[in-house]
Amino acid sequence: MPAIAVYNLKGGVGKTTISVNLAWNSAVRSRRRTLLWDLDPQGAATHLIGVPGDGREGSGTAASLLRDGRDPAAMIRASTTDGLDLLGADASLRSIDRIFFDLGKKRRLAKLIDRLRRTYDRIVIDCPPGLTETAEQVMRAADLMIVPVIPSALSVRAFDEVISYMSAKKGRQAPVLPVYSMVDKRRTQHRAMLADHPRWPVIPMASVVERMATIRKPVGAFAPSAPATLAFEKLWRGIERRLAQDPARSA
Ligand SMILES: Nc1ncnc2c1ncn2[C@@H]1O[C@H](COP(=O)(O)OP(=O)(O)OP(=O)(O)O)[C@@H](O)[C@H]1O
Ligand SMILES: [Mg+2]
Repeated sequence: MPAIAVYNLKGGVGKTTISVNLAWNSAVRSRRRTLLWDLDPQGAATHLIGVPGDGREGSGTAASLLRDGRDPAAMIRASTTDGLDLLGADASLRSIDRIFFDLGKKRRLAKLIDRLRRTYDRIVIDCPPGLTETAEQVMRAADLMIVPVIPSALSVRAFDEVISYMSAKKGRQAPVLPVYSMVDKRRTQHRAMLADHPRWPVIPMASVVERMATIRKPVGAFAPSAPATLAFEKLWRGIERRLAQDPARSA
């Protein structure tokens, strides 16, 4: 059962936005049993789809799952979307790189994902930015890594850095799918950069996406026919097609 990580070493490129909307599409459009795992101590995905006031926010235990190798089932909670579960983040995750490093357990994350695969058809992981130990573990464990890229020179440079970092590593690394994020086709530079990679999927810059933070729901839940919603749906269908090309991973 595939684990799809959304990662970039660069911050603020749309990782959380894409994670939440892909997880929604998996649960609602594809009717898959879906888990969104928020690995970022900022807890933005947890804030966006967590049920407010369920007593789990800020519980300070997210890192203990990784440190102690506990059964994640006890920490999983419902989200505001039926069929979409949440393994939430809190500030304790700030120490996970050190925890991984101290443990010397290079496969701790992969093992946890394998446990979750027994229960879920799709696992979407919202990663923190940075080339950290967590990122390395995600690169090894995920079945597909979505990398959002804003059409700007610095963002493309960060993407190139991720690719060269991964190719310098020994052992299995997740296949990478770059996605143009926050695209404004009125801008000459955006159009030019899109022409460089015409096959990369595109998520438009849209005010409906910004509204997610106040409504605290994925866009599909409150703006079903908005162009951005349709772009997330198209991206999700492309991911499903890609996973289906590898039957061992799509089941
Ligand atoms: N397609 C979009 N259209 C408009 N605003 C967007 C879009 N994607 C993301 N944003 C906005 O950009 C900001 C950063 O997005 P997001 O939090 O998803 O990025 P991130 O890569 O997860 O950031 P971080 O590295 O801090 O985790 C947010 O305010 C979000 O609402
Ligand atoms: Mg984020």
